[in-house]
Amino acid sequence: MAEKKQFRAIKGTRDILPPDSALWNWFERTARDTFGSYNFGEIRLPVFEETELFARSIGADTDVVGKEMYTFEDYDAPELVELRAAVVTWHESAAEGGTVVYASFAGLLNRFLIACRAAFDRGSIPRTPGNDSILKNLLGEREIFLTSIQSVRLVENDRAVNHLKERVREIEFGDSLSLRPEATASVCRAYIEHGMHTRPGNVKLYYMGPMFRRERPQKGRYRQFYQIGAEVLGQSDAPAIDAELIEMLLNFFRRAGLTSTTLYVNSIGDKNCRPQYVELLREELRKVKDKLGADSQRRIETNPLRVLDSKLPEEQPVIEKLPRIADHLCAECRDHFAKLKDELNLRGIRYEENWRLVRGLDYYTRTTFEVTAAGLGSQNAVCGGGRYDGLVELLGGPPTKGIGFAIGSDRAILSIQESQAAAADAPGAAKRHLPALAVFIAWMGERAYPAAVSIARKLRESGVSVELPAEEMKFKKSLGLADKLGARYALIIGEDEVASHTYTLKRLADANQQKLSEGDLLEYLESERRGSR
Ligand code: HAM
Repeated sequence: MAEKKQFRAIKGTRDILPPDSALWNWFERTARDTFGSYNFGEIRLPVFEETELFARSIGADTDVVGKEMYTFEDYDAPELVELRAAVVTWHESAAEGGTVVYASFAGLLNRFLIACRAAFDRGSIPRTPGNDSILKNLLGEREIFLTSIQSVRLVENDRAVNHLKERVREIEFGDSLSLRPEATASVCRAYIEHGMHTRPGNVKLYYMGPMFRRERPQKGRYRQFYQIGAEVLGQSDAPAIDAELIEMLLNFFRRAGLTSTTLYVNSIGDKNCRPQYVELLREELRKVKDKLGADSQRRIETNPLRVLDSKLPEEQPVIEKLPRIADHLCAECRDHFAKLKDELNLRGIRYEENWRLVRGLDYYTRTTFEVTAAGLGSQNAVCGGGRYDGLVELLGGPPTKGIGFAIGSDRAILSIQESQAAAADAPGAAKRHLPALAVFIAWMGERAYPAAVSIARKLRESGVSVELPAEEMKFKKSLGLADKLGARYALIIGEDEVASHTYTLKRLADANQQKLSEGDLLEYLESERRGSR
């Protein structure tokens, strides 16, 4: 018999199982509590958007947009897709091909064009000027092809077929959509779409959920990963906003038990001073081009700031000698950065300046920051963020200032788990976030079952977690399973117990037993639950 295929999660994606999922829930709950205390509200966003939204915000030349997005065409006309495939894969070698064969191609193309025109007119393919003009021109080109089949040589017919196929490929059947690689672009899109600039004060939003980037998977780097992010949008770019946002982030990390973190800050200037600095950097980089690797050499022309991000050991001495942006900021940016540092000091926040912190997305201006955590190897950035004044405008909205961050939950949780595993009280710490199982009901006998079902329901209603075996089990096996599941108590319900209306509650840690009436039992377990919280 042929072996059945074993399905596995796609490379770079993974399942998060209990008990880890309990830690994830607790981590996310702690974020909600912390962000709520700073008056942030949650925004829930779609996981896919127009590709153009990301290209315009993050930058078409960035790795994220250029190489890592999961992009697909979203079409409304499945019949056209089949017809298009038939047209573009049509093939007849010139040797066998006669005029009849080429006429069959013209016929196929005609069917395709009629279907396309109808779809265009009813709006099920995008009614763009590009589509309109290709469709009009193709009709004419097809006529010319048909009339010239007999008069020209076969190679020329082949050439004409290839040309027509190319034109057919250019027709857009649907919008290009992408799974979101990050959520700042979506937040700005939503801010504009819902006219949120008319809301009073700064608009303070947070979000959490999966993001998608087609990166090379490794420890702490996935193709589906999770972020918790926060954004502040409004009219003010006061450095106190930046500092309070960073304070909130670090407060959250502290509450989540993410210790041994380092905060790095930088200012990358704005549209007044950065272009000159980038030019200067480019000139200096050209002088040392031979000492750089292929990636950095390419970036000298495309995006010289990204060279500063390089981790290649042989490039480090060269990079250290390059001009630093701090020495080339305009007066306003210098003042903004100095005030940011004052505001951080005021809050007792420790930071390190890192002039090479340029970040991989194009929308940043002025403040950039990152937090790294211990125990993660090379992928140790647990959070990245910065200012993006002007991004909303770039997307067609009103002039708006913005700043935000996104935490990589996968990495943050990995770091928490590693530090817990290293701690002396590891077992207790690891289980701290588990909704512990309180009661395992060991029932025996047909008459005991209805009582077990009824007691389980009552306990669960009062918030006590209960495991009720669906089938009768032998007493010893029952207690063994209760133990393995980590239950605190076994509640023993046999026929005698039902007859006497008293139940035996056994504490599994020390085998201490007590007999209780149903009322006393419910009261005891509920008060224990309240006390143990
Ligand atoms: P980012 O630096 O691209 O910024 O991502 C933020 C964090 O997401 C990183 O520091 C890292 O922890 C996590 N991360 C990124 N890629 C992966 C991956 N492949 N696997 C696991 N974790 C990953 C942004 O996304 C910006 N939207 C942040 C922001 C918000 N800036 C302003 N507002």
